[in-house]
Amino acid sequence: MSNNKFYITTAIAYTNAPPHIGHAFELLIADVIARYQRLLGKDVRFLTGTDEHGITNAQAAKKAGVSPKTFTDKNAYLFKELIDSLDVSYNDFIRTSDEKRHWPSVVKIWQKLLISNDIYKKSYQGLYCIGHEAFIKESDLVDGVCPDHKTKPEVISEENYFFRLSKYTEKVKKLIETDKLRIVPESRKNEILSLLRDGLEDVSFSRPVEKLKWGIPVPGDETQTIYVWADALTNYISALGYGENAEQFKKYWPADTQVVGKDILRFHAAIWPAMLLSAGEKCPLTLLVHGFITSGGIKMSKTVGNIVDPFVMIEKYGAEALRYFLLREISTTDDGDFTREKFEARYQADLANGLGNIVARVSAIGEKLGVIDISDVKLFLDASLPQYYKEFFEEYKLHEVLKHIWEDIGRLDKKINDEKPWELKDVQQKMCVVELSGALLSIARLLSPFLPKTAEKIKKQFHFDSKKQTLTVKRGKPLFPRLEK
Ligand code: MSP
Repeated sequence: MSNNKFYITTAIAYTNAPPHIGHAFELLIADVIARYQRLLGKDVRFLTGTDEHGITNAQAAKKAGVSPKTFTDKNAYLFKELIDSLDVSYNDFIRTSDEKRHWPSVVKIWQKLLISNDIYKKSYQGLYCIGHEAFIKESDLVDGVCPDHKTKPEVISEENYFFRLSKYTEKVKKLIETDKLRIVPESRKNEILSLLRDGLEDVSFSRPVEKLKWGIPVPGDETQTIYVWADALTNYISALGYGENAEQFKKYWPADTQVVGKDILRFHAAIWPAMLLSAGEKCPLTLLVHGFITSGGIKMSKTVGNIVDPFVMIEKYGAEALRYFLLREISTTDDGDFTREKFEARYQADLANGLGNIVARVSAIGEKLGVIDISDVKLFLDASLPQYYKEFFEEYKLHEVLKHIWEDIGRLDKKINDEKPWELKDVQQKMCVVELSGALLSIARLLSPFLPKTAEKIKKQFHFDSKKQTLTVKRGKPLFPRLEK
């Protein structure tokens, strides 16, 4: 196995509604990590996709008066469009409705669980929350409704196939306790360990076809449809060609980092590792659990109706500004509230008046110097990544990386004000401009995982030719035009 590989995934979103900025947040976290790993020279594979089966999707299609396929096609397209407009550097996009790529792996894993004697049939009665696509306990309800979705669960009495999750409680617990399956942040690790200490119950892994037709049939039993989570979780390996492309699977599995939101911790830290153990496969190495983007203090979601449309934000402020705001303002693993006021304040202070202004000031002076021969003045370009940078990445504190970079930008701003390069003459001015350009180029490199387009623009404006040992500075359009009052 090549140890130079890095396999990263996001959760796959339900296609019951178009994407909102909560989805954008998760994609961006994964994108920055993927880009950072590429900076380290890793062979990165970055997977994302859509979760298209289950009741949530089927009901949404019915409401819209179209077939599930037509409906999910439309929203899957919107997710792809968002990913492209946000400049997310994914390598692969998997759709669970893809009968050629995804279904065979789901059948394969089902068969493996069967062979391990971990699938059995039983009659069951329980409360089903459609929003969660999961059975929930009576004790989880608040005033008779699911506290997350504010909906009454369905009372269900049926015969299902069950997965022997209980059998894996101890093994999964051990993996997590020993950090073989590392859960970030620590608070989420403790949360799942406390759940595991209470013991896991077996879970329903299928639904009768008359209740749920929109899904993958249970192999050998056309009267049952595979439970949407068993189907969806398998995306992480079906996209590698599990059971179909042994070489690719061997190269990239296990996943190095799986990025998911806190609401689906249990599925990824309990059911998913248990399925893999049962199938005799390795478990992922790290599960990075982020918080929620809230709006008015409440989780942003279609059901609540408090969503912010990422396309509108991108259209008005640009993708780079949205990337910056979500990754800087919202702590990677905590909840964070989204408001236009906060967004515009950060845009104006950090992007327009901060980074954008410095680049404009230095390039205006630099351009006047023409092609600068730097064979006698050293251009200081830091080729290594600073220690803080690597540490924060290792701890997945992406917002801290940006905070640090902006402190550097602040110091650079002060230096410009103190040294007043526009008042300097000849060699002194040249030395000062070369030094500031080197600092900006170093900043651009550190920024590249977060703001890839901006980093590219800075590199173009401060063109360093290492062969000729020249620096040519050019003015450009404002990186972040100031917002009109
Ligand atoms: N389909 C399942 C995941 C299956 S993974 C095998 C699902 N879909 S979802 O569309 O509801 O959520 C997809 C991801 O987006 C999840 O990680 C979820 O936590 C995240 N978010 C959804 N709303 C969010 C916010 N308001 N804020 C941040 N992330 C949120 O769960």
